Amino acid sequence: MKIVTTIQEAKEQIKEWKDQGLSVGLVPSMGYLHEGHASLMKAAVSQMDKVAVSVFVNPTQFGPNEDYDSYPRDLDHDIAICEEQGVDLIFHPSVEEMYGKNYNTYVTMETLGDELCGKSRPIHFRGVCTVVTKLFNILTPDKAFFGQKDAQQLAIIKRMVKDLNMNLEVVGCPIIREEDGLAKSSRNTYLSPEERQAALILSKTIFMGQKMVEEGERDVKTLLDAMKSNIETEPLARIDYVEVVDGETMQKVDRIEESVLVAMAVYIGNTRLIDNFMYEC
Ligand code: PAJ
Repeated sequence: MKIVTTIQEAKEQIKEWKDQGLSVGLVPSMGYLHEGHASLMKAAVSQMDKVAVSVFVNPTQFGPNEDYDSYPRDLDHDIAICEEQGVDLIFHPSVEEMYGKNYNTYVTMETLGDELCGKSRPIHFRGVCTVVTKLFNILTPDKAFFGQKDAQQLAIIKRMVKDLNMNLEVVGCPIIREEDGLAKSSRNTYLSPEERQAALILSKTIFMGQKMVEEGERDVKTLLDAMKSNIETEPLARIDYVEVVDGETMQKVDRIEESVLVAMAVYIGNTRLIDNFMYEC
């Protein structure tokens, strides 16, 4: 496995593979890798000749009061996980390498980034779209792999690739959970033992909501009332949002009639966690 830090080296390696007619998969990440990331690598390794993982904590997707500085980092552990999964290349650039002097260009969504997480994180998806576009341009993958865990991000990247005629396929992969249900996340490391226990309210509520819908509930208000009441039983939890939106446009719906995304963001103490499920009628 090769580890490169410059755009030049990354481009040279990819060119060598492309010249040999090999397909390239990309798993973009911010590092502190866990089984959720590993599942994307597994999918990529099984479908592609060569797999690159980017490890870059992207400053432009963090708001001024968010956790950019404290975001967990452990490159040695990341390298071990990538080795284990049979990854061929780690791209680990510095902030200066990605956003040099006088950096001035961003990729934004018209409306998709305003809903759900966009409400409390107004510049987040602009940063995500920008860095992902840069990674696509640098590494020119044939396929890029993203987790359903960040459902809005996945919908936005799919939209962006379609709208801007980017030459790759976006592959969505299922949410990987801890044994007790909590969706795996690099941010789970912020939780104290008491908060870790309280955080189960997210997955419990997701499973409850999913069961209601599977058993025929179609009224969004009834579903959301039940889900919110359930979250409110946990004293350490504070709801940012719980919403039901169209799976593609991220616009709110009143009734569950086609493909919907049921998504939530909940603070457990100071840590903001997300979870969701998709439902196709
Ligand atoms: P990061 O949070 O590191 O996540 C990288 C990828 O791993 C994302 O596609 C995310 O959805 C996926 N992932 C994380 N936890 C998962 C889980 N429990 N199950 C399945 N997939 C999971 O998302 C980002 O980084 C950044 O926004 C990025 C796209 C790299 C742009 O900076």
